[in-house]
Amino acid sequence: MATHKILLLPGDGIGTEIAAAARKVIAWFDSRAGGVFEIEEDVVGGAAYDAHGVAITDAAMDLAQASDAVLFGAVGGPKWASVPYEVRPEAGLLRLRKDLGLFANLRPAICYPALADASSLKREVVEGLDILIVRELTGGVYFGEPKEIRDLGNGQKRGIDTQVYDTYEIERIARVAFDLARTRSNKVSSSEKHNVMKSGVLWKEVVTAVHAREYGDVALDHILADNCGMQLVRWPKQFDVIVCDNLFGDMLSDVAAMLTGSLGMLPSAALGATDPATGKRKAMYEPVHGSAPDIAGTGAANPIAMIASFAMALRYSFGMVDEANLLDKAIAAALDTGARTRDIGGGDNSVGTEAMTATILAALDRLSA
Ligand code: NAD
Ligand code: IPM
Ligand code: MN
Repeated sequence: MATHKILLLPGDGIGTEIAAAARKVIAWFDSRAGGVFEIEEDVVGGAAYDAHGVAITDAAMDLAQASDAVLFGAVGGPKWASVPYEVRPEAGLLRLRKDLGLFANLRPAICYPALADASSLKREVVEGLDILIVRELTGGVYFGEPKEIRDLGNGQKRGIDTQVYDTYEIERIARVAFDLARTRSNKVSSSEKHNVMKSGVLWKEVVTAVHAREYGDVALDHILADNCGMQLVRWPKQFDVIVCDNLFGDMLSDVAAMLTGSLGMLPSAALGATDPATGKRKAMYEPVHGSAPDIAGTGAANPIAMIASFAMALRYSFGMVDEANLLDKAIAAALDTGARTRDIGGGDNSVGTEAMTATILAALDRLSA
């Protein structure tokens, strides 16, 4: 039986709490499939800084390179507010993305039927929502050089970040978006700001060319990123797949999260290119949310974004599509029982991370009986 190697990197804050939840779900699938998963665990982020003085060690990077999938919790928090920029917790996450070549970040925003009233928006705006943000993840302003604070010598400093995109980076993320659109409602909205950014002009030009050459059957429209943010809140169901750069994708996906009820609901898959020799690709699965310092340690974190990220691993890394569908159904069924963490409107009857996870495991038992 094939073994799937998972590197679990819990990280900081609620990262450790949702990683514990993920372990239980992995164990459920492992015992059902007869021991197919092999889990290694290491520290990342602030936890790695505390233990080793860096945000991720070379040894952990080696484990990540050797794994079939990394499952990442969350990093960061006030404890590390004044550590040097190069070793801040978030640098560990960025190194993983960059060094593993994870250029394609899939961030699905699905409004589960039971949560149509959990969003701050009206039920009719979000009910039935199923959109996918395809975020470019290894380029743009996150990684462009120069990136520095320059002393101008006159009592002034200059903070510099550089937005850079090359043709090949835009082509490959556009292809991911078009390919995925073909498996969905066949529509891509490409979001940039060509009205003020040269990289936006190139982005629009390259997406248009890829579309014309290879994807004439897919509907494509272009939307300025600021308008896209507004349209996501006004009438999100007009979208199917949204493709955008690293920074716009970061912001638009947090906006999209609230359409589903909470940031605690949004999973993601960060994928590399498929190696033609092995048919394999590097991958990391991570909730869209962060370490939530405001609720860390209280046991209140919603584990669904993390558990749904594991469902994406089943789907995209392990070829276990039936299992992925089962887990997605179990999450919906758990919500149908009325179980709610505080972030999705549980109020005084809220359940915590452990009880929500137990409800999902019980739903898995029921649905697979
Ligand atoms: P955050 O995503 O951690 O939290 C934003 C808000 O959403 C908070 O009120 C939090 O309680 C809530 N929230 C987030 N996830 C939740 C969950 N699963 N269940 C219930 N509520 C949840 O964003 P922030 O507060 O801006 O950032 C905190 C730290 O996390 C920062 O250091 C930031 O850099 C880091 N961060 C890390 C990642 C990551 O590791 N992937 C992502 C985003 C932010
Ligand atoms: C995310 C996070 C990260 C990002 C941070 C923690 C580096 O906000 O995954 O959305 O900006 O990409
Ligand atoms: Mn973010």
